[in-house]
Amino acid sequence: MLVFFPKKIASGCYWPSSRKRIKSVSSMIRVLFICLGNICRSPLAEAIFNHKVIEKELEGTIHSDSCGTSDYHIGEQPDERSMQCAKNRGILINHRGRQINRLDLKDFDYLIVMDQSNLQKVKNLMDIHGISHSHLYLMREFQPNAAHSDVPDPYYGEADGFEEVYDILEESLENFLAKIIEDHHLHV
Ligand code: 4NP
Repeated sequence: MLVFFPKKIASGCYWPSSRKRIKSVSSMIRVLFICLGNICRSPLAEAIFNHKVIEKELEGTIHSDSCGTSDYHIGEQPDERSMQCAKNRGILINHRGRQINRLDLKDFDYLIVMDQSNLQKVKNLMDIHGISHSHLYLMREFQPNAAHSDVPDPYYGEADGFEEVYDILEESLENFLAKIIEDHHLHV
């Protein structure tokens, strides 16, 4: 099976396989995926989303990253089960855990949280720093007919929980990317 794995360069953006010139990250549309630990859901979301961005040849236009609200797993590789789940679908994850910080609230155009707890923590951080953000969403707002508002936390569960998370993310991210394309009148 061929796995497409773009190289992550120092700035955090991906160097397109086509080697076409990319803009500086600051002039790109920037998306941040947020969960609790930044080892299960948000790095998986980042990898799936980036795969879709590359499929649409928008890698020079849209930049994504992920982080956690906690400091539990700073510097760590994603959870083995997340990596395996992604690999089963032909996607590799390339990320190290990091915690959200004040600058993220300003630097990213879209903040996408996985659950209500993440949402509350990001809102608290905004209050502390007196920052508002007009594009803060729960991931499952992009999944029509979602049974629940949260992407379930698979950390304490089994491998099938990660498969469920993958399916939720896959559908939600397809719709989220369509929204970005529409919002920014991107040509695909
Ligand atoms: P995530 O999952 O928020 O999707 O990365 C978790 C990872 C670690 C922990 C909880 C959730 N933890 O308690 O260490």
